[in-house]
Amino acid sequence: MKIALASDHAGYDLKQEVMNYLQDKRIPIKDFGCFSKESVNYADFAEKAVKQVLNREYDRAVLICGTGIGMSMVANKFKGIRATLCCDEYMAEMSRQHNDSNCLTLGGRIIPADEAVHIVETWLRTKFEGGRHQKRLDKISQIEEMNFK
Ligand code: RB5
Repeated sequence: MKIALASDHAGYDLKQEVMNYLQDKRIPIKDFGCFSKESVNYADFAEKAVKQVLNREYDRAVLICGTGIGMSMVANKFKGIRATLCCDEYMAEMSRQHNDSNCLTLGGRIIPADEAVHIVETWLRTKFEGGRHQKRLDKISQIEEMNFK
């Protein structure tokens, strides 16, 4: 599993912690920015990372801004991205089991680093359940198709 990471300035510190965790676990990652705490626009960095998932260079994306909200809003504009803002391990688990999340968003200003690492770990290891949940995701895909015509 290869992970594309991105943040804005408000997610920069937490992204370093998440990167350290993933590197310790020898999970292949690439940081698509930003690369300092200078103020930037989260949309630019969400776009860079989710495009890597859509072109299959990376399997999933982890995006971090101040709240995780802006990153999730941007990521979910991309057809095929199922971005989920997770504030605890239960949300991370459900986002995989029920929503087949392929993009995790986190809030650097609201989640402590140790909790964020647990969220990432749960999100990475939890499998999609399929079945009735796939039918629901199919409906989202139909909505995407309508809106992209
Ligand atoms: C930046 O100040 C902040 O607005 C951004 O990181 C994010 O929280 C937006 O949703």
